[in-house]
Amino acid sequence: MSRGCLITGVAGFVGSHLAEALLALNLPVVGVDNFFSGHRENMESFQNHPDFRFHEGSVEEHGLLGRLRKEYPALDVCFHLAAIVSVPYSVDHEEETMRVNWRATEDLLREAEDLGLSRFVFAGSAAEYGEDERLPLLEGYITPETKHLSPYGRAKHLSSQRVASSSIGVALRCFNIYGPRQDPRSPYSGVISRFIDFALAREPLTIFGDGQQTRDFIYVADIVSAYLAAAGLGDFRMPLPPGVYNAGTGVSISILELADTIRDLAGNAFPHRFMPERPGDIRHSLASIAALENNSPWRPRVQLREGLRRTIDGVGLQTLA
Ligand code: UD1
Repeated sequence: MSRGCLITGVAGFVGSHLAEALLALNLPVVGVDNFFSGHRENMESFQNHPDFRFHEGSVEEHGLLGRLRKEYPALDVCFHLAAIVSVPYSVDHEEETMRVNWRATEDLLREAEDLGLSRFVFAGSAAEYGEDERLPLLEGYITPETKHLSPYGRAKHLSSQRVASSSIGVALRCFNIYGPRQDPRSPYSGVISRFIDFALAREPLTIFGDGQQTRDFIYVADIVSAYLAAAGLGDFRMPLPPGVYNAGTGVSISILELADTIRDLAGNAFPHRFMPERPGDIRHSLASIAALENNSPWRPRVQLREGLRRTIDGVGLQTLA
């Protein structure tokens, strides 16, 4: 029997890419989303697929996994991506963030354990590290003394820790993910989606601060393959041992260099516009990916320039459609 997969947050940027990949592997997928930040359009390519089922609702629904398992007995893996994703929103809504991003994760995981699922894979975040100047960041750097910069970071950390302690749990601590379908329209959107949006609109790119801050950007297809590795699906025959793993590329680039590259690829000739540094911005971020690489054949495959090209082409196609 093929292994059924549950994806919470299936209408989100990463969730929708993961659904496409699992369906392409002929695995049945049940998706959950409440459209708090996900978009129905993200599901367009697979919503009518015969192996896809959708449940509109929140991950806070009591007994959600048990009910879905009754309806779809093949469910064997849970990919838990649904969350409040905006860091500034989390600062203004601390209690709600702790409920959705932490408590709901604990409840879902407990249900997954009780139901005997084989893997529970959780979307962690580089925000779990807070401001740590030791680079590259190793999974073990987080201690009880770590100062999180937001309720978002704290809730993700508490969840990752709980997931990693489970015999079926894998937490992927994702660095800066980019790719087609990432929403560029909010002031808190990822820098790459914003830069591409500006560049294609023939507007200057806005750099906060001096542009010398650095990030580890990972293309969404590489994150999707890390999820497959975590569960032992597709080309990955063995699931990752339970635990927490950074998911990045191990390479960083400055925001200024990134802006120059995107301007070049999009054929935009405007000079950049410099704005004051964003409050609370961390200066540098870079993942050590040794743990993930040592425990699986997973490797990041898509170079930044290639990923940027694919992202720009994706936006172009949407505009034409
Ligand atoms: C990312 C996460 C955030 C998490 C943090 C933890 C995203 C969208 N955000 O934030 O949830 O808390 O990692 O490390 O993935 N910038 C510009 N111009 C712009 C937009 C951004 O110069 O128009 C700069 C920012 O000031 C920042 C850098 O680009 O220095 C990256 O910004 P962003 O994509 O928002 O990600 P993080 O700040 O790394």
